[in-house]
Amino acid sequence: MSLALCPGSFDPITLGHLNIIRRTSQIFDRVVVCIMVNSSKTEPMFTIEERVDMARKVLVRFPNVEVETPTGLLSDYVKKFDSAVIVKGLRAASDFEYEFQMNLINKMLNPQLETMFLTASEKYTFLSSSVVREMASYGADLTGLVPCEIIEDVKEKAKIWRR
Ligand code: PNS
Repeated sequence: MSLALCPGSFDPITLGHLNIIRRTSQIFDRVVVCIMVNSSKTEPMFTIEERVDMARKVLVRFPNVEVETPTGLLSDYVKKFDSAVIVKGLRAASDFEYEFQMNLINKMLNPQLETMFLTASEKYTFLSSSVVREMASYGADLTGLVPCEIIEDVKEKAKIWRR
């Protein structure tokens, strides 16, 4: 059974993430979406538990996709499985530089680990969780940015979130 891990901070999950996860779920038998801490992102909008709730609400439509919250290093988490591939989305050259570095670090920590990249759908190349957080904080319309199931969650949180 082929297994893909889709790691990220998902703060919050966007339509760009959803597009990559959906396509990954068509290629692999099983997909584990790993909601993890990115220590360089110091002011999250949502707690890990809130991100998981939103992701599960959105991903329930995909029977072969599950959501987990591994703690620690991704390179260690992968060792839990006989064979798992990391799948990440790439939007632009700037993503490539960052992801290439992460790939090399992960490979140094765990030489068995393989990472594959899917190019983002062009309609989502501008989209990121940080764009969503920024727009939400100004009360902008989030249609077309985040899945409709979580628009209200993001709007509600934005009312109390301090940037
Ligand atoms: O969506 P993001 O913020 O680009 O995701 C980055 C993430 C969470 C996948 C990355 O920071 C990560 O793998 N965090 C877990 C700890 C880890 O393994 N770090 C990489 C080696 S230092």
